[in-house]
Amino acid sequence: MGAREYTGRLAGLPTPFYFYDMDLLDRTLRTAGEEAARYGYKIHYALKANFDPRIMSAVRAAGFGVDCVSGNEVRAAVENGFPASEVVFAGVGKSDREIEYALSQGIFSFNCESREELEVIDAIAERMGKTARIALRINPDVDPKTHRHISTGKADNKFGISYTEIDEAIASLDRLRHIDIVGLHFHIGSQIRDMRVFERLCERVNAIKAWFAGRGIVLRHLNMGGGLGIDYDAPDAEPVPDFASYFAVFARCLETGPGQTVHFELGRSLVGQCGELIARVLYNKTTAAGSQVVILDAGMTDLIRPALYDARHGIENLTSQAAPQTYTVVGPICESSDTFAERIELPATSRGDLLAIRSAGAYGMAMASRYNLRELPGAVYSNEL
Ligand code: LLP
Repeated sequence: MGAREYTGRLAGLPTPFYFYDMDLLDRTLRTAGEEAARYGYKIHYALKANFDPRIMSAVRAAGFGVDCVSGNEVRAAVENGFPASEVVFAGVGKSDREIEYALSQGIFSFNCESREELEVIDAIAERMGKTARIALRINPDVDPKTHRHISTGKADNKFGISYTEIDEAIASLDRLRHIDIVGLHFHIGSQIRDMRVFERLCERVNAIKAWFAGRGIVLRHLNMGGGLGIDYDAPDAEPVPDFASYFAVFARCLETGPGQTVHFELGRSLVGQCGELIARVLYNKTTAAGSQVVILDAGMTDLIRPALYDARHGIENLTSQAAPQTYTVVGPICESSDTFAERIELPATSRGDLLAIRSAGAYGMAMASRYNLRELPGAVYSNEL
């Protein structure tokens, strides 16, 4: 599956690079689109997961909109052919310049995260002679039961307007004449595999919606964010995430009024499994404590998830089929956290072998850095080999 099928053609290429299985990407996008279409749901691709131009164009061809979190992401979306009318713009700290740019493009809506931001967007829209469409991002206080660094919807997280401040936010709306509240936005976290979490989100959203309805506020759109997780442990068992079950939860549990549209902002589930980081073994060594260490030419600058979140990605040796041994797999960066895996089984591994680090299509290349003045990793696409 994935890069393994292409090993012969990958062998001569300079490493490290991201390999993208474009067939799997298309299958994933098609499945997500079909499952969402059953209920008339609209998907916005969370561009932060991967802004590779070829991935963007596959997403655009699938007919999705985009979810952006910076002015540059809005620009990238527009420049890569997404209609501005399908761009949503979230983020707790939008700068004035970013707001001006997004307003000038006429984006679908700002996902607004604080009372103060409402005032600022209103003032900028007034100055520009425009009206800004706004979805209020409410922090619903739902525990996503995921890693604390990718949890966003608990009461003490920095994201969204807290339910304790909604009253004041609503009270200010009469004064703010250059914003149009078109909906509500929620995003409680990422890599969520337990569907009961989304059921709880729906219950909270039903209550919050009712509260708004009681105050005569009509909400045309409900944006339920992203967060659907992927199977990092067994990528071949579920190459395409279970979008059917995911959307079915919302169809079953989320109450919608007439004409109210439901939007999603999926990132990881759309692009996570189609990408692998391909690296070459530079050296082998054994520590004094007896651990066999494999040193790759890819490190935390290419894929930071293990160092940052203790994430574990599947690792395969594409070259060797020898009997397995136990290895710790590390990168070349001067940081102890530059470790991809500890004590995993791999076929006996030698200098020059190609290794694939699986499930790296989301938040891999997008989070790469040039720390240590390293080059950014390249990109190779299955349909161009
Ligand atoms: N919408 C908003 C407002 C978000 O903040 C995010 C992700 C998404 C949608 C997309 O979530 P997804 O469907 O991908 O779970 N770098 C971390 C993940 C950070 C997620 C940030 N926000 C990682 O590598 O696990």
